[in-house]
Amino acid sequence: MPKKQHETSRTAVERCPLIPNTNVANTLRRPQVKAVLDRLFAAAAHDDETPDWLRPGLSWETATAQERADASEATYMPISRKGGELLYILVRARRPKTVVEFGTSYGISAIYLVAAIADNGIGHVVSTELNGAKVLAARANLEEARLAECVTILLGDARTTLKDIPGPIDFVLLDGWKDLCLPLLRSLESRLAVGALVVADDINLPSLSGYLDYVRDPSNGYVSVAFPVEDGMEISCWTGERGVR
Ligand SMILES: C[S@@+](CC[C@H](N)C(=O)[O-])C[C@H]1O[C@@H](n2cnc3c(N)ncnc32)[C@H](O)[C@@H]1O
Repeated sequence: MPKKQHETSRTAVERCPLIPNTNVANTLRRPQVKAVLDRLFAAAAHDDETPDWLRPGLSWETATAQERADASEATYMPISRKGGELLYILVRARRPKTVVEFGTSYGISAIYLVAAIADNGIGHVVSTELNGAKVLAARANLEEARLAECVTILLGDARTTLKDIPGPIDFVLLDGWKDLCLPLLRSLESRLAVGALVVADDINLPSLSGYLDYVRDPSNGYVSVAFPVEDGMEISCWTGERGVR
């Protein structure tokens, strides 16, 4: 059978297996996906972001990343619907083969990323989460949305779990603890594809200021803009060339 005109031999090999059985051009409109997103956003509307510390005396400043994750087990902290749609648009347009997400939580942002991958017919999402209960729930949510085939959710600290993800990485969503976004980006940088997009959520938080200073300094190799969606997302394109102002 002849290939469709837009389909290269590479995409034919690596296409997401979800695609052949659907005629729906926008996976976000599929009833199963809408139902899961509606349920998750409704639950997230009740978020109480006060950490439930497992031992006394802890604070956000003194706790480890794991302790913060476990104290936030009941909290969704998701991207907004508009933020999710922005991610969907960016992944559709960029057509990444490898997408990395830092901070899965209950899988809301992962659903948007994987929906776009499914509609592109190529690519895979690797997402990582420190809290074990959230990993199980996120996997179940992606199953229920019938999107589990194009995503791997890793349990553990992103600083370890993402170490062996081979490059080139074409798209990154940074949505874990904000003080780890910059070190995490630095650890992925040598594996970023030229033209990779890196998106960070919640740029209005002071704890992201070091990250923003870095990606907005052209000598670090990014072209970066703030996008005004809900709490703000920073979209940065890796040029592959440092030291140019
Ligand atoms: C803001 S929430 C993520 C929300 C998710 N992206 C969404 O839109 O549904 C941040 C999540 O990152 C996780 N996290 C924080 N630091 C992490 C780390 N070092 N490694 C893996 N996961 C981490 C937290 O446990 C928390 O569930």
